[in-house]
Amino acid sequence: MFNLILFGPPGSGKGTQSENIIAAYGLQHLSTGNLLRSEIADQTTLGLKAKTLMDAGQLVPDEVVIGMVDNFMNAHPEAKGFLFDGFPRTTAQCVALDDLLKQKGNEINVVLALQVGEEELVKRLLGRGATSGRSDDTNETIIRARIKEYNDKTTAVATYYAQFEKVVNVQGEGSVESIYADLKKEIDARI
Ligand code: AP5
Repeated sequence: MFNLILFGPPGSGKGTQSENIIAAYGLQHLSTGNLLRSEIADQTTLGLKAKTLMDAGQLVPDEVVIGMVDNFMNAHPEAKGFLFDGFPRTTAQCVALDDLLKQKGNEINVVLALQVGEEELVKRLLGRGATSGRSDDTNETIIRARIKEYNDKTTAVATYYAQFEKVVNVQGEGSVESIYADLKKEIDARI
């Protein structure tokens, strides 16, 4: 199994690059943001609770997200590996993910961390918000709150995996194609 975390702040291109990577390597895409948005669309109890937090740019509680990830992985026993997008986002989520993988005799192989400056992130997300209908993209105050939440709580994920020498920084500004080529080089060196 090959398990990859595509890491980076909101708007760094995780979703965009995930599409290219899963198409090329046949990994199972696990985006906690997409799973939460589908709970919201289905108006589940979990979705209704998560919406308030997501609309404010705040993280959903660890136990909710970890439970969703556990269910998703169990529902895909045939996966050749997972591409984790937007997860883990806290140290507690890192520890839980390592435990879930260890129970199946697996581990994270690499964390590819996209590097993008804050003003570029805001520009991209406001641009997407004009057409996407994502409520957390429409307002610059909420976008900056998401980035602050990332700086306060999620950068710890890179610190956690750095202790196991699993983090590789990748320039996340430039064309989608050139960034994908850099990501591909790192994956090919390890898969
Ligand atoms: P989530 O859905 O994970 O959103 P995010 O991390 O904020 O990331 P985005 O989807 O906004 O950005 P991205 O990095 O995927 O970039 P993308 O490719 O889309 O999370 C949403 C919310 O859910 C969180 O705020 C939180 O509340 C909750 N949540 C989710 N997971 C959680 C967890 N594990 N724990 C707790 N809470 C959780 O690109 C963005 C834009 O930029 C697009 O328009 C794209 O076309 C454009 N773009 C991409 N690449 C380039 C490029 N190279 N040049 C120019 N434009 C580009």
